[in-house]
Amino acid sequence: MNVWFLIFFAIKITVLAFDFSGNYFSVEYNQQISEDRYLYKTESGVSIISCANKCSVEINCCVANFDAISQTCHLDMSGFCFSAPQHENGSITIRRAQGDWFNWSPWSKCSKTCEGGKRTRSHQHSNDESAENVTSVEVCHPFGCNDTALNCYEWKTKGLLDSQTALIEPITSNGVQLPAVEIYCDMDMENGAGVTVINHDGERDVTVHGYEGHGSYSYIVSYDISFEHVVAIIDSSQFCRQFVRWKCFNAEIYDEGNQKWNTYWTNRSTAYLATNEYKPPSGFFHGPEIRRICDCGITDTCQRSDVLCNCDINDDIWRSDEGYVTNKDALPIVAFFVGDTGDALEEGKHFIGPIECYGIA
Ligand SMILES: *[C@@H]1O[C@H](CO)[C@@H](O)[C@H](O)[C@H]1NC(C)=O
Ligand SMILES: *[C@@H]1O[C@H](CO)[C@@H](O)[C@H](O)[C@H]1NC(C)=O
Ligand SMILES: *[C@@H]1O[C@H](CO)[C@@H](O)[C@H](O)[C@H]1NC(C)=O
Ligand SMILES: *[C@@H]1O[C@H](CO)[C@@H](O)[C@H](O)[C@H]1NC(C)=O
Repeated sequence: MNVWFLIFFAIKITVLAFDFSGNYFSVEYNQQISEDRYLYKTESGVSIISCANKCSVEINCCVANFDAISQTCHLDMSGFCFSAPQHENGSITIRRAQGDWFNWSPWSKCSKTCEGGKRTRSHQHSNDESAENVTSVEVCHPFGCNDTALNCYEWKTKGLLDSQTALIEPITSNGVQLPAVEIYCDMDMENGAGVTVINHDGERDVTVHGYEGHGSYSYIVSYDISFEHVVAIIDSSQFCRQFVRWKCFNAEIYDEGNQKWNTYWTNRSTAYLATNEYKPPSGFFHGPEIRRICDCGITDTCQRSDVLCNCDINDDIWRSDEGYVTNKDALPIVAFFVGDTGDALEEGKHFIGPIECYGIA
């Protein structure tokens, strides 16, 4: 029996019924410290509160809303809002809900990117705009500034909450741990799963004009981290995707007459070919399979029913074919090749998105 237990016993008042501006509350508490504030202490971490009308009860950062008459709510205080599993002391604040229940604002960003910062959220006491807000505070980003993880998915498990750059040390499929590199972790996408984002220099519309021969123009994507790192991140993730788009004006993707690609991207395997070696098209497919088809062809939504890519309409209207490549074995996109832009009125723009990976393979 510790000293606080003795003090607890000394000041304990078991059940109190009282009137608070028209609402009735029954609270098991220890000591009233102000009109609507009570110190409480329980051994199990569970406090029983009931109220006879609409009311909201706040215990530290936990809020319970009551509607039905004489409803009793068991508030489990063990680890719900706190980092510590149990709380010896706490304060209960009972406030009258006027109209709507209390709604917490979203959490603020963490005050620090590492080594423990704080984040806060608040709600208003009442519908009165001038009322002081109740704020709750939580410790965040507890990890060290030099800490590393396999990828951003693992960073999430270490407590990374906000999107920011972080150090990762991916492991190759042969089990080799690569040196740490800085990468952007997007903690908002995919419901905050922790998406590893690999950026490069091609995330913009790059205009192409003046290249007639099949694939006679080439754009080699230059990633912000080494190719070995890129491949290791993709291989160790469960899901990866990369957006690709070709906006076209009189510039077709597939040359039906010659059965050849004009415009295409090339996949991972072509990264290991010599610079001057021919890089075969990997298609202009999206999704998991290799097919001579664009997204609109897969979903049967092309702007004309007899084509598999919008750009194959090949006319004087700006059109676009775009989608996500989701086949991990094909990623990353290594290069983008273009043809059929040699004539005065032929032009196009390519855009390649960042690689976005999440989950553990
Ligand atoms: C519990 O409350 C008492 C009295 O307010 C205070 O002195 C003590 O520091 C508190 N203990 C903890 C662990 O917060
Ligand atoms: C109080 O919190 C609410 C969100 O619950 C917010 O909209 C409002 O701006 C805050 N008011 C003050 C004075 O901070
Ligand atoms: C973090 O790394 C820097 C440089 O590598 C080093 O100087 C520093 O002592 C490290 N900090 C911790 C807390 O390990
Ligand atoms: C990559 O592209 C080549 C053609 O360049 C193709 O033969 C191969 O099947 C593709 N690999 C994957 C995994 O899509």
